[in-house]
Amino acid sequence: MKVAVLGAHGQIAMLLHPILRSNGNQITGLIRNPDHAAEVERAGAKPVVCDVEAEEDISPAVGDADAVIFAAGAGPGSGAERKWSVDRDGALKLIEAAKKKGIRRYVMISAMKAEEPRGNEVFQAYLEAKSQADKALRESGLDYTIIRPGRLTDDLPAGRVTLGPDLESGEIPRADVATVVAEVLENQGTIGHQWDVVSGDIPVENAIKRLV
Ligand SMILES: NC(=O)c1ccc[n+]([C@@H]2O[C@H](COP(=O)([O-])OP(=O)(O)OC[C@H]3O[C@@H](n4cnc5c(N)ncnc54)[C@H](OP(=O)(O)O)[C@@H]3O)[C@@H](O)[C@H]2O)c1
Repeated sequence: MKVAVLGAHGQIAMLLHPILRSNGNQITGLIRNPDHAAEVERAGAKPVVCDVEAEEDISPAVGDADAVIFAAGAGPGSGAERKWSVDRDGALKLIEAAKKKGIRRYVMISAMKAEEPRGNEVFQAYLEAKSQADKALRESGLDYTIIRPGRLTDDLPAGRVTLGPDLESGEIPRADVATVVAEVLENQGTIGHQWDVVSGDIPVENAIKRLV
């Protein structure tokens, strides 16, 4: 299938491209910074420059994909403004682009417990932005799957997770999130589900099978 990934130079996205490729997919990687093009290409995606904060309509960059993945984020150094413009509005623009292009499938990388306000003002804006984006996707009519990881680490992948609709707090390597995202994309039974994910004991494929 043809997959468009928004935030294609992100840390999870860069781990995701090789998995998607090895599953036989073609990837368009939407990037903000043209300097990232070569790196994204080496990871297996065709880079397309698209700054989701600068563009109102990102459908031209999404192209003729069969599925879209939201892997973008304003990042830890950013203020509240960019939580709204990337984490919320970027995800909303991807919903609109999917609808405009007739693309049904949307996999969202969100954040665990986005509905529970906590932390400082910026973190609260981040959670609220994620929560609003997820709500919009659930109500979009698209074939969505929302994956909400706990705290991300750069540890090596364990390939084993705990996956479920409402988990306690935990952490997970970005590489394992990439595996989960690639697996749910391929599994139509995950459509219409929103799951938290943290490191656990169950191989990713089995963890998904238990829930669908
Ligand atoms: N950190 C955590 O513990 C945690 C926990 C749960 C969920 N999450 C979420 O998981 C997701 C992926 O995490 P990650 O660590 O892989 O993120 P990341 O490395 O920060 O990657 C985010 C990507 O979004 C891109 N981006 C930012 N603004 C953009 C714009 N205007 N237009 C296009 N692309 C833009 C960035 O591009 P540049 O490279 O050009 O900046 C970057 O490549 C994020 O949504 C994050 O919020 C994080």
